[in-house]
Amino acid sequence: MKFFIDTANLAQIQEANDLGILDGVTTNPTLMAKEGIRGTEAIMAHYKTICEIVDGPVSAEVLGTTFAEIVEEGKKLAAIHENIVVKVPMIKDGIKAIKWFTDNGIKTNCTLVFSAGQAILAAKAGATFVSPFIGRIDDGNWDGVQLIEQIVNIYNSQGFMTEVLAASIRTPLHIVRCAEAGADVCTCPLSSILGLLKHPLTDLGLEQFLKDAKAMQ
Ligand code: E4P
Repeated sequence: MKFFIDTANLAQIQEANDLGILDGVTTNPTLMAKEGIRGTEAIMAHYKTICEIVDGPVSAEVLGTTFAEIVEEGKKLAAIHENIVVKVPMIKDGIKAIKWFTDNGIKTNCTLVFSAGQAILAAKAGATFVSPFIGRIDDGNWDGVQLIEQIVNIYNSQGFMTEVLAASIRTPLHIVRCAEAGADVCTCPLSSILGLLKHPLTDLGLEQFLKDAKAMQ
């Protein structure tokens, strides 16, 4: 399973990249706005900087909602860097645009996916990635990981090449359960990635080893 970081914060992207386990980045308008990025030029420059830090797919989301707007914006985003993946919302014009990008060699990430039916449409249009939002599904008292399992099974049995990118990850356990469910990619906040490191027996064991190591000196 590939690890993407789900943020537009450059320090966090750098920290995750320095771990040596980072395969890519996802952003969305909320994450970009949180970093205080305003205006087309600043948005484009920020994506370029992210691409210079991480050698892997970087999802940049379109802001338009009509076919013409999405295609126009997506072409500009894709021109920033070869690793840019155009992130497109799961709407009718979004699906049409994903098909257009597929036919024109531009990679896409179909976002805001909450059902298997939506994931089938994204795959039919040729999306590179599909992003089911598992945390938001859990928030509504459903099981987001079950949706990952369902989409993975459908894609495997139908031979769809679209990669299942588990998004809206909230906890380290989400990452483990997505790996079990067969997700191709997990996009996570830095806190969830670092949370995977933690176990009290590791801390206790290391404390003892360091104490014993001192006794040997
Ligand atoms: C990533 O592609 C999504 O935009 C993101 O994971 C959404 O996460 P949230 O539900 O925590 O906002």
